Amino acid sequence: MNSRKVIAIDGYASTGKSTLAKMLSRHYHLPFIDSGALYRGVTLFALEKGFLKDNELDQKAFNGALKGLSLRLEPDTGDLYLNGENVSQKIRLPQVSDHVSTIAALSVVREFLLLQQRQMAHENGLVMDGRDIGTVVFPNADHKFFFTARPEVRAQRRYEELKAQGQETTFEEVLNNLIHRDQTDSSREVAPLRKADDAIEIDTSEVTTNQVFAHLIEKIDAK
Ligand code: DC
Repeated sequence: MNSRKVIAIDGYASTGKSTLAKMLSRHYHLPFIDSGALYRGVTLFALEKGFLKDNELDQKAFNGALKGLSLRLEPDTGDLYLNGENVSQKIRLPQVSDHVSTIAALSVVREFLLLQQRQMAHENGLVMDGRDIGTVVFPNADHKFFFTARPEVRAQRRYEELKAQGQETTFEEVLNNLIHRDQTDSSREVAPLRKADDAIEIDTSEVTTNQVFAHLIEKIDAK
């Protein structure tokens, strides 16, 4: 029996993709990859090195520097290392959230990360969440899900998470960032956020995490 499983979870920001992907990864003993963390890592790099300043990107210098960028996701902890430094906390800062969609729209960035993401699918498979996993990264994934939820519900969840981490922000700021990112992610030319034709759509607005988990397991095991 071939037990390799590739599970792709795509969808809008803060719909619970990573939480559910982690639960599935534990349940099926598969590695979990948060592809958004990789895009956030590249964005942090562009900001820290000064390639992205006042919303202007020095594309030539950035493209050149990208070749020397090393990103590593620690499989057990999910921690992200950028040129050897653990940047797991920094990539969640609002400054990174505000610029990540701009960086994620660049074809040079998507090509750079596409290769890395494909190399992460080992013999046993994996659970990966993002925006283009079922459409571009793993179009032949065994299981594909597409998460949606009402913007206000998503913003409230994200706002509470950020507050719990001690970050200063308002509900409106969080809501505006989510709406802006969804628009940019859906309208970009390369690998836009969209539901794969064969993905199952899951609306997480009115259901608990455990209910979604039970539903996903049922779908996966039935296939
Ligand atoms: O999952 P996240 O919200 O941390 O992702 C941050 C951003 O990265 C998201 O707004 C768009 C981009 N992204 C992407 O373009 N493609 C992916 N597969 C994952 C994330």
